[in-house]
Amino acid sequence: MGSCNGTTTPKDRLVGVDVSRGMVERCRASGQYNEVLLGSIQDILPGLSTYDHIVCLSVLHFLTAPELSLVLARCFQLARLSLTVSMDEVPNNQAQGPDIPAGLSMESFSHIDEAMAFGIPPGWQLVCRKRRLTCVSPLCGDRIHTTVLRYEKLKRSDIV
Ligand SMILES: C[S@@+](CC[C@H](N)C(=O)[O-])C[C@H]1O[C@@H](n2cnc3c(N)ncnc32)[C@H](O)[C@@H]1O
Repeated sequence: MGSCNGTTTPKDRLVGVDVSRGMVERCRASGQYNEVLLGSIQDILPGLSTYDHIVCLSVLHFLTAPELSLVLARCFQLARLSLTVSMDEVPNNQAQGPDIPAGLSMESFSHIDEAMAFGIPPGWQLVCRKRRLTCVSPLCGDRIHTTVLRYEKLKRSDIV
């Protein structure tokens, strides 16, 4: 998950969040981020302040439905201009198949229905919803589709 203050200029800040120490170290080493926080978005989001843009790619399928609602609600509180999320549809049999090496199992939820049911908070609009095939699992051949949702805050002049 990453967030940044507007378009990239030298004074903008790009802050990342990931629960994996290895991913955090790679992101820090990339030099692309001003700061990378180690921890789950469930734990870290409550303590953050606002950002212009929040982007959360291919993480939400790891959350349970109640966690998804809390994370979306907090993102809408923290984002000043836009929120972009992508949600992968990873079949759970990928986590349980006989060819999956030990230690690589995971639980996954396809959350697009929950995200739609969550709705659009007042003062926001859904400007993009796109679903496409993003990868074919090298482990079990599953075809993984991803849906991208982008929400933008309405300008005061657009609110009737
Ligand atoms: C498919 S990768 C996507 C990584 C990155 N967002 C990107 O778009 O390149 C999923 C990432 O989600 C992280 N992750 C899983 N559950 C998480 C959680 N609850 N909070 C924060 N990160 C989480 C994993 O550690 C992993 O790095």
